[in-house]
Amino acid sequence: MTEYMKDTVLAEFFDNYGSGGDIACYFAPGRINLIGEHTDYNGGHVFPCALPFGTYIAVRRRDDAVLRLSSVNFPKDGIITTDIRSLTPLSDSSWTSYVKGVIWAVLDRTDSEITGMDIMIGGDVPAGAGLSSSASLEVAVGYMLSDQFGLGFSNQEIALIGQRAENDFVGVNCGIMDQFASAMGKEDHAIFLDTNTLEYDYVPLSLKDCSIIIANTNKPHSLNDSAYNDRRRECSEALKEINAFLHAYPDSDEASAGDIDALCQLNQEDFDRVKECITDPVILRRARHAVTENQRTEDAVKVLQAGDIDAFGKLMNASHVSLRDDYEVSCPELDLLAETAWTIPGVIGSRMTGGGFGGCTVSIIKNSSVDEYEKIAGEKYREAFGYDCTFIRGAAGDGPRRL
Ligand code: GLA
Repeated sequence: MTEYMKDTVLAEFFDNYGSGGDIACYFAPGRINLIGEHTDYNGGHVFPCALPFGTYIAVRRRDDAVLRLSSVNFPKDGIITTDIRSLTPLSDSSWTSYVKGVIWAVLDRTDSEITGMDIMIGGDVPAGAGLSSSASLEVAVGYMLSDQFGLGFSNQEIALIGQRAENDFVGVNCGIMDQFASAMGKEDHAIFLDTNTLEYDYVPLSLKDCSIIIANTNKPHSLNDSAYNDRRRECSEALKEINAFLHAYPDSDEASAGDIDALCQLNQEDFDRVKECITDPVILRRARHAVTENQRTEDAVKVLQAGDIDAFGKLMNASHVSLRDDYEVSCPELDLLAETAWTIPGVIGSRMTGGGFGGCTVSIIKNSSVDEYEKIAGEKYREAFGYDCTFIRGAAGDGPRRL
């Protein structure tokens, strides 16, 4: 796949911009999150891994400040030309804004000279599927800029630059999980990341006789959807009420630690002691998801390290239930895929992955049951929604690199 995608992007590059000069190619992966959903903006843990597919870039530096962009995936857009000195945040929401946003964030961070470029992009992450095609594009561009202009950014810095671009240039208020997973990916490992401190551990993904199967609903989700920002606001609201309670009852056990900065600083026991202060039942459910999901993620990593894959699967299922009922970010398409999976012997665990409202489920399935799962879930899905879902085999891949 890598060679094919690289060749495709290079061939299109030659067609659009000519073949002379110093042309370099780069790759950065998409990601799948195994557990720890909607915890990354609540100071909690996440457990994603990078995928073996992602975004490819071919680039040639120019002598002027002109930026020319085109994409194999959006041929109708042709060549989009702009000046790197006049990049304006929040000016458009097309795929080009992710590229421009990273250049803008890098220009803001370095005094080194960055020139214009001719860039061709191509990707094999399905767009809008919740597999972080945008984060992989951001990380690929950040990595490419660091290499081309000798900026010496660490992969962690590249992740933060990507998040800044997405937050402040594109205008999507995402957390750090997607960019971190793409920038820090490691083959055969998932990343146990504390989003509060950015401390992380690589955990070997030894799934024995099981595989990671991704089921794409083919129902595009959009993080621009106001629902994502609503959830963030609801979590801040819960945090405010909890801190007000801790101030009002300074003698309570929880207050001894002072204010909390994020919901996931509370463990389940602490939360049960303070939750009465949250008056709105919806806000209460949102906060409960954040706290319990963080706990599930910590537990999931422990059981996986102990080799108990069945326990890991049960936590994945519980994560889906919490996202469906407490956080309300699932949808009938995701529910059907996860709930069907739960009925099939040999399915270890199954849940929605990513922001929700569409996109994909991730399942861990015994190799001997994969065909049966795909047949049953595929048929049920077509019957219910009138179109097909798509199954993709997942695996943990490496982070960004020059090809
Ligand atoms: C999207 C965001 C991430 C994270 C997930 C939900 O993928 O980009 O930062 O919040 O949703 O876990």
